[in-house]
Amino acid sequence: MRKLTYFIACSIDGFIGDPDGDASSMFGFVADDYLEFLKSEYPETIPVQGREALGIQNAPNEHFDTVVQGRASYQLALDAGITSPYAHLREHVASRTLEQAPGTGVEIIADDLVGRVRALKAEEHGLGIYLCGGSRIAGELLDEIDELVIKTYPQVYGSGMPMFGSGFAVTDFTLDGVRTFGNGVLVRRYSRKR
Ligand SMILES: NC(=O)c1ccc[n+]([C@@H]2O[C@H](COP(=O)([O-])OP(=O)(O)OC[C@H]3O[C@@H](n4cnc5c(N)ncnc54)[C@H](OP(=O)(O)O)[C@@H]3O)[C@@H](O)[C@H]2O)c1
Repeated sequence: MRKLTYFIACSIDGFIGDPDGDASSMFGFVADDYLEFLKSEYPETIPVQGREALGIQNAPNEHFDTVVQGRASYQLALDAGITSPYAHLREHVASRTLEQAPGTGVEIIADDLVGRVRALKAEEHGLGIYLCGGSRIAGELLDEIDELVIKTYPQVYGSGMPMFGSGFAVTDFTLDGVRTFGNGVLVRRYSRKR
């Protein structure tokens, strides 16, 4: 069974972006020892253009070989002219409006999102599955999430896009590890209590 990991950046108060989802205020923290951590331990979570800029386009995948993201998150790449933002992973985009994937190798999940993710998890080979976000798809997949890797940036948003676009329900996780970085970024790793 492969793990589904929601690997996500947020503010101290748990928002993954401003009310429209814009997380650009966090970008400046991606530097120094924290950037080294991302490059060495989670290089596959850096989109292709970032990998090229950092000179790590051939970095091997460490934790994930598959990515699942919602169309709104994927749209950010499309708007920048990039059709395959995670070309080093098997890319899956949930969408009922995109009839076919603009990017080579990008698979559209148009229906039975949970069933498709369960099938990906049931594959017996390979690394884990990176749930990239955003909020709505994470809310729909909450019951399937096995691990959280939460990158908290030292900023308060007050309001914004929640980590999970879902209704109220308590879901328990166990804290597996905490990493702190010089610029105040905190990375917590939790596993799902089943
Ligand atoms: N802080 C971070 O680390 C981080 C990471 C990722 C994203 N984000 C932010 O999150 C924002 C986007 O989040 P969001 O919540 O608005 O949208 P989202 O979850 O990225 O995408 C929602 C879209 O996914 C498709 N979808 C959802 N459920 C589906 C289902 N069951 N079956 C088929 N398709 C389904 C629909 O696409 P269609 O409309 O095409 O049908 C829906 O409009 C972005 O602004 C981005 O900046 C932040």
